[in-house]
Formats: sequence, C-alpha cells, structure tokens
Amino acid sequence: MCGIVGYIGSKDACPFLLSGLQRLEYRGYDSAGIATLRQSDNIRVTKVAGRVAELDAALQHKPMAGPLGIGHTRWATHGAATQDNAHPHLGGSAAVTLAHNGVIENYESLKSELVGKGYQFVSQTDSEVVAHLVAECLKEAQGDGAEPEVQHCVDAMQAAIARLRGTYGLVVMFREFPDLLIAARCGSPLVVGVGKQEQFVASDTSPLVGFTERIIYLADHQIAVIRPDNIQVLHRDHGRVRPDIQTLSSQSQDASLEGYEHYMLKEIYEQPQSIQNALRGRIDRDNATAKFGGLNLTTQQLRGIQRVILTGCGTSWHSALVGDYLIEELARIPVEVEYASELRYRNPPVDHDTVVFGITQSGETADTLAALREMKRKGHHTLAICNVIGSSIAQEADGGIYLHAGPEIGVASTKAFTSQLTVLSMLALYFGRLRHLSFEAGQRIITQLELLPQVVEQTLGCHKQVREIAAKYADASNFLYLGRKFNFPTALEGALKLKEISYIHAEGYPAAEMKHGPIALVDENTPSVFIVPQGTVYEKVLSNLQEVKARGGPVIAIVDHEDPQVTKLADDVIHIPEIEDFLQPIVASIPLQLLSYEIALLRGCDVDKPRNLAKSVTVE
Ligand code: AGP
Repeated sequence: MCGIVGYIGSKDACPFLLSGLQRLEYRGYDSAGIATLRQSDNIRVTKVAGRVAELDAALQHKPMAGPLGIGHTRWATHGAATQDNAHPHLGGSAAVTLAHNGVIENYESLKSELVGKGYQFVSQTDSEVVAHLVAECLKEAQGDGAEPEVQHCVDAMQAAIARLRGTYGLVVMFREFPDLLIAARCGSPLVVGVGKQEQFVASDTSPLVGFTERIIYLADHQIAVIRPDNIQVLHRDHGRVRPDIQTLSSQSQDASLEGYEHYMLKEIYEQPQSIQNALRGRIDRDNATAKFGGLNLTTQQLRGIQRVILTGCGTSWHSALVGDYLIEELARIPVEVEYASELRYRNPPVDHDTVVFGITQSGETADTLAALREMKRKGHHTLAICNVIGSSIAQEADGGIYLHAGPEIGVASTKAFTSQLTVLSMLALYFGRLRHLSFEAGQRIITQLELLPQVVEQTLGCHKQVREIAAKYADASNFLYLGRKFNFPTALEGALKLKEISYIHAEGYPAAEMKHGPIALVDENTPSVFIVPQGTVYEKVLSNLQEVKARGGPVIAIVDHEDPQVTKLADDVIHIPEIEDFLQPIVASIPLQLLSYEIALLRGCDVDKPRNLAKSVTVE
C-alpha cells in the first residue's frame, strides 16, 4: 500500500519520480507528492489531494528542480486524503523530509512526547511523527554547535527507527546534505536501484524498469545510506553488510496498456498466454505428472505430507478454496483453507507433516506474510504460490511456485487468479501422482491442462454477448452469484469482481445454501448469476435455478453445452467451452470478469483504480 520513490544523482530527480509514481499508483492513489533538494537551496515540496496526474499538472505550473528527490502516492490509513496528510512530510522545521509506507503503531505516544518538546504537527498521519522524530534524533546526534556530518544523519535514523513499533519503508532527505538519501525497511518493501553516478529507490521494481537493471532488495532492519556514487547497507544487528546486487527479472518489464482501454481488460485478454506461462516447463508427460523446481522438499517428505493448509486473502483466498477441492479430489490429502488474517492469530493444532501454502499475487499482503511467518515459527514448511518475483513472501517462504503471469496492474485480480488455479491444478496432480492417482488419470488431466490456453482463448469470444447482457442489468443494486462444488468459489470470485469495480452489492453462495436465507433477497430486480455447466452437480444447480425463477428473479446462466432446460428457464445464457469440472472455475471466471468490467464501465466507474482499494494490501 502506498508507493515510494527516491532519486539521487546528477540529473533532475523529477522525471524519474513522476514516472515512478505513475507506475506505483496501483498501490494507492488518493493523494501524491514529491520533494526535491539542490545545493544551497531549501527543500521544495508539492503535494495534491488527488492522483499523480494532478501532481503532474501542479508541477507544470511550478516546476521543481534538483538532483535529489523523493515521492509518494498514498492510500490513506491515518487521516483523510487531504493535501496536508499527503507525503512527503517535513520534520524539525524542514531539516528532514520523508516519505513512509506502513503503519506506526506507537505514533500517539511518540507524538505527545514530540509535542511536549515543541514540535508542531500539520497532519493527522503517523508518518509526520517519524519525520519529527528523525529531526529530534538528528539534533541529539549533532549535539551543540558541532559541524553537521553524514554520520549524524545515519545515527539519527538508527536512533529514530529503534523507537518505532509497526511497519515502515522510509526514504529520507536531510536539508544539510543534498548528496545523501537514506532508506530504511521493516515490513514494508524497498528496492534500491544501482546506477552509474545515480541511484534509485522504490517500493517495488516497476519504477526502475528502463533506469537500471541492477537492484538490491533491502531486508527488514536494514538501512541503505545512498550517495550518488556509492551505497552502504547497514543492518540493525550485524552492522555493515555486503549488498546483494541482483539483476532485475525480465518479468518486471514495463507494463503498458498496449492499445487496451484499461489494464483490467488487457489482463483478461492476456489469460491464454498467462496460463500457458504457468504451465510451461511444468508438465511431465512421461510420468503423467507435474514438476516444480522450488518446493525444497524431498520426495519422501512430499509423500509424508498428511495435511495441507492453504491461506491467502481476497481473490487469492478464493483460489485456495478451489485448491481445497482439487487437492482433496486428486490427491486425497486433507486440506484446510484459512483467511490469512485469521490464521495469523489462531493457534490451530497442526502436526509436523503439514505444509502451508500462502497464495498471493503481490507477495506483499501483510496478513498472508504474517500468517506464513507464524506457521514457520511453529516449525511448518511454508510455500508461496506467488506472482511477483523477489517479493517479501517469495523471499521469506521456504520454497514456492511462481505464477509467471507478468505484471498485474488492474486492482481487480484476473489473470493472477486463473494462473493460481492452473498452478493449484498441477500441484494437485503432482501430489496425486505421488500417492494413488493412476498413470492414465494423470495423462487425462495433463491433456485437459494442455487444452486450457486454447479453451480460454475461445471463451473470450463471449465478450460481445456479455456486453449486451451487462447493458440489461447495469442498473441493478444487488446481484447473487451461485454455483456448487468447484464453482462455489467461482461464484464468490464473480461477486467480488462485481463489487470491487462497480460498487454493486453482490453475494456469492453455494447454490444450495440459497434456500437457507439469501433466497429472501430474490425479486424481479435482483439478478442471479448461475454457473451451471455439466458435471456431477448439474441437476442440483438446475433445481436451485428453478427455485429462483419460481420467485420471479432474473437469471443469467453460464452453461457449457447446448442446454434446452437452462435456455427455457434463464433470461440470458452465456456459453463457455466444455472442460473437465476441476478446470471449470478457470473457464467460467472469464465471462464473470467481463461482466463486471462491462457493468463498471456502464456505471462510469474507474475500472483500474476502484475507490478505497489498492493493489497490494501491506497494512493489517
Ligand atoms: C482482488 O481482486 C483483490 N483486489 C484482492 O482481494 C486481492 O486478491 C487480495 O488483496 C490479495 O492480494 P494478493 O493476492 O496480492 O495477496
């Protein structure tokens, strides 16, 4: 949540800061600001209560120059989205300027202490407290009348962060040192980009693309002391450490719209390719199984697994629900699905032969990270199913599987979801083949998996029809999404997509649950979306559909064959191609993604940046 950028070098900082903030805007977009500094000048700050485009416009009127600068795009936690609350924040009469990601839990007590010392606050944020605290520590480090030195700034940073409880990614400028930038991390990611006579900082790698390919991921409790020609990394407990300079992965390439109107639409259309990427190199036809390089478990350990916990948040939690059906059905291993936000505070009795998978697109979700840490602390092998290479969860888990879906920018997850399901299907096959699943069954599953990219491509052909259906229902205030077995999570995901981007109230349920309460919502103004492909529960879902029709509710049905029964009952029917039931959630999600997209467009909503949301949720 929130995006940070920093630049120090010989060029003007502003162009990098602005382009970086544009690329980070998916992390938060309610206000934005930058600060710059040049030799013998004061720090200049421009902030807007609005988006980066508005910051850009403000800077057209009031250009800011200087080879040192920091920037921030915010997702409000403490205090509303106002100009005063926007970052960067000044500390100690502008001796210090900083941008902060994360949450400072003890900010109130620190604030009263600083107010007592005469510091004046202009914002309601926890971040301004850090700015004043660093300024106070700087004053203490400098002592009376001493010549200011860089080491004073480093000492001040270390003293200040030692007093913080909570999470932070910080970039800090000091008025007296126009050739110094300090970055510090605890629980909120920061990457330093290494250039020639210039260095960059960002809260993920996207701003660095095109500027440098050499990067250092800061670890928790590290600070980077950054000069135009040199970077020193210090660890709270180990002192100076050698920075591990890595190469920026090709997957982090610049994500542009490539002619699409929105990232969400582009990402929906990328799914044949992203699914192909998830499958690539992971199918072992000879042994009728899947293969994964990074689980870091021996075959014996894998065979010994007695229980699997799948955890995640939001869409990734829906993937976990599908994973539950997949692993139980194909591998016969008991599975538990937990919201990461609950798992982190629970104390489930877990035995040693349990592995825990954290499912996450961003690899930065605070709750998922904390849940995995807690499970790891208790001695369990933790694995990540993750998209973003080098993300915190990817680094901290004991092993894992990358999705290789490419950057997902739209806040509403689409291609990451279907890639997660593809990976989970392969995982279930893999576990199954280590146990009872026959060679023939494995071969059949592989054939279905290999068909997926082309089946999804074909499914996208429903877009025009979905657009027409969207026009009929765009004014509805409530929607129900109903499906059973593998398609129960599909229904949950369909409902989430609609509420996220169109702000329509939508509920997903197992279709049979409806009669235990939600059926009371059915009336002529409440459309129900039924996922009713062929399979073991087809007849059952059909009965539930009839129950809704009997009460006058409009029905949109998703079917996978010419279905006269459904066609007779439903108001609108969307056809998807046939595929075995365990892969239906992938295929059936496509029309649901398109339906939300089209309805959101008709309602004039900002599809890629829906209100109140952010792409990576790095606060609890
Ligand atoms: C999905 O459309 C949502 N924006 C959200 O629920 C998301 O899936 C959730 O925050 C988890 O994110 P992660 O996969 O990056 O961990």
